[in-house]
Amino acid sequence: LLTQHRKKGEQIKKGMASGQMSRDEALECTRCRHACHVLLYSETASQLFGRIPIRYIVLMQMRFDGLLGFPGGFVNPLEETLEEGLTRELLEELGVAVPVSKEDHVESCFSPPRSGTYSSSSRLILHFYVKKMEEEQIQEIEKAAASTAADHGLEVLGMVRVPLYTTKSGGGLSCFLSHSFIGVARFQLMNSLLRLHLVSPGDLQEALRSSQRTHA
Ligand code: GTP
Ligand code: MN
Ligand code: MN
Ligand code: MN
Ligand code: MN
Ligand code: MN
Repeated sequence: LLTQHRKKGEQIKKGMASGQMSRDEALECTRCRHACHVLLYSETASQLFGRIPIRYIVLMQMRFDGLLGFPGGFVNPLEETLEEGLTRELLEELGVAVPVSKEDHVESCFSPPRSGTYSSSSRLILHFYVKKMEEEQIQEIEKAAASTAADHGLEVLGMVRVPLYTTKSGGGLSCFLSHSFIGVARFQLMNSLLRLHLVSPGDLQEALRSSQRTHA
C-alpha cells in the first residue's frame, strides 16, 4: 500500500521499508502538513445479548464525509507539538481534552495521494497514536461527544464502537471492515487490533476475507 506513492528520488531512510518514518523524521519535513489521529480503547466485561463478550471498546467515528475514521485532525507543528495539537482536536471532536503523549505514538507515514492532487508541497504526513483508558473514561467520552463537543453534528456525526466478534450470521468485525474508511484508517485499525492482541491473526484474516466476499 504505502510503497505505491513513494516517489523515486525521495529520501528513503533505514526502517522505512514499509513507507513508515519515525516521529522525528516526519517533523523534519517542514513543507509537509501534519495530521494526528488516535485509537482510544478500554477493556470491558460487558456481553452482547448476555453471551457474546465485547472484550474491548475500540472507538472510531462517523465523519462529516460519511467515512469512518479516528478522532484527531490537522496539527500545526509551528504552533503546537503534535500531541498538543491532537489533544486540541480531541477537545473539539470529543468534548474531552484527552491527554496524549509521545509514548502513545505508534507510527507516522505519508498519506496516500488522492488522484491528481499529489504534489511535494502539499504532502500530508499522518501520525497515529494508541491510548488505553478505563471503561468509565471511554463512556465519559461517548457522552461528551454526543452532547457538549463543539464538532458534534458537524465534523463528527457520531462515535462508534468497533465490533471485534463475529456473529453466527457472519456479521460483526467482517461487516464493519466492509464500510468505507478515510485515508489509511482501515489499515491503522487492523494493524492495531493485531499489535494490541485484541483480535487473533486468524480471526482477522477470516473477517477480512469474509468482508470482501459477503459485504463488498
Ligand atoms: P478540519 O478541522 O475540517 O480541517 O478537520 P480536522 O482537522 O479534524 O482533520 P481530519 O480529521 O479530517 O484529518 C485531516 C486529514 O487526515 C484528512 O483529510 C484525511 O486525509 C486524514 N485522516 C483523517 N482521519 C484519518 C484517520 O483516521 N486515519 C488516517 N490515516 N487519516 C485520516
Ligand atoms: Mn434489541
Ligand atoms: Mn478530525
Ligand atoms: Mn477536527
Ligand atoms: Mn482541525
Ligand atoms: Mn475543525
